[in-house]
Order: sequence, then C-alpha cells, then structure tokens
Amino acid sequence: MKVRIDSERCQGHGRCYDLAPDLFGEDDEGYGTVLGSGEVAAGQEPEARLAAANCPERAIDAENG
Ligand code: F3S
Repeated sequence: MKVRIDSERCQGHGRCYDLAPDLFGEDDEGYGTVLGSGEVAAGQEPEARLAAANCPERAIDAENG
C-alpha cells in the first residue's frame, strides 16, 4: 500500500499526523506531508486507512499496490 496527500485539497486539519504519526508529518504551516516514500508496511495499513477515512477534505489516497 502507498499513501499520498493531494496538497490542493489539504487544509491542514492535522488528523493524518495525529492518527498516523509514523506515516505523516506536518510542514511549517501545519499542512500534512507524507513521510519517506509513502510506502506503507503491512502492519501499518490500518493506520493508513484510518488517516484517509478521517481527513475531512478527503485529501489522502491510500492505495493498494
Ligand atoms: Fe491535510 Fe487532511 Fe491531514 S486536511 S493535514 S491531509 S487530515
């Protein structure tokens, strides 16, 4: 699985890096960033899905493959 943030949609709600701090960080203005390559280890997939489901702007893609 891989995660991605659509920066045009992100409004800085911060749920991603609160809920899944291993996968997401924040930039200087509080917008979400993907840590590293965005590749999600199998054990972290629930976190990735949780973050995607809780982004109010639906800015997070968590895609298989
Ligand atoms: Fe942005 Fe959504 Fe995270 S709005 S900061 S991607 S919870």
